[in-house]
Amino acid sequence: MASPTFLASPSWQRQLWVEADPEAVAVCVAERLHQALEQAVVLGLATGRTMEPVYAVLRQRLLGLAMPQRQALLRRWCSFNLDEYVGLGPDHPQSFAAFMQRQLAGPLQLEPGCLAIPDGLALDPDAEAHRYSAAVAAAGGIDLQLLGLGSNGHVGFNEPPCSEAEPCRCLSLSLATRQQNAGAFGGDPAAVPARAITLGTAEILAARRLLLVVTGAAKAEILRRTLLEPPCPEVPASWLQRHPCLEVVVDRAAAAQLELS
Ligand code: GLP
Repeated sequence: MASPTFLASPSWQRQLWVEADPEAVAVCVAERLHQALEQAVVLGLATGRTMEPVYAVLRQRLLGLAMPQRQALLRRWCSFNLDEYVGLGPDHPQSFAAFMQRQLAGPLQLEPGCLAIPDGLALDPDAEAHRYSAAVAAAGGIDLQLLGLGSNGHVGFNEPPCSEAEPCRCLSLSLATRQQNAGAFGGDPAAVPARAITLGTAEILAARRLLLVVTGAAKAEILRRTLLEPPCPEVPASWLQRHPCLEVVVDRAAAAQLELS
């Protein structure tokens, strides 16, 4: 039986926020992203259903700012997305580039290029992964990395098994992940691209702050394994425990299996 040393640590307890529901989680996370943007940091951004309410609140907050303040903040925007499907470009509605365009870049009228994402249409995806990793490094690395959690424990698209030092790379997606994401592709896992480019656990763990966001009862068990079991390759997100500055924001449904005092 794994000992819950992570939750037992007082410093860790301060970093776990259990909110009532996904809407409250979104407010909490958007506030942190907004604060980070005010400090002109390099953001690491994520896609997925979990982030939709987060980005909705963030949009609302930023569009509610007075014009000069908003423009000053948006002009400094510098972000890198975690991942992209191989074979999908910004014109494909299910690409993560299109997701980010709908969620943030379009409504906020961000300058092209300030919201970076791997090029899913690159002829050589391995070379694109190298280029993307170098671009993150050239920007000074990521200050605040936003992360969702895959149902199989992946972060970004780092599929199990995965060591804590995997670089940005092109990889094959697992059947579990293609099933998880099939909803966006007409419910057919075979329609989900077979490969993706993802920042690796190496780049993710090198970020100065991590913000893991998890909602819903379906993720309760994988969240428990992520936070309470010793880090292992079978649950890539469990490596996040090793990070000195990890903050976790979850709703009550996702927290159901955590033994909270
Ligand atoms: C996707 C993405 C991840 C995301 C995760 C959870 O496949 N690659 O970055 O965090 O899976 O997605 P969702 O929020 O839709 O459950």
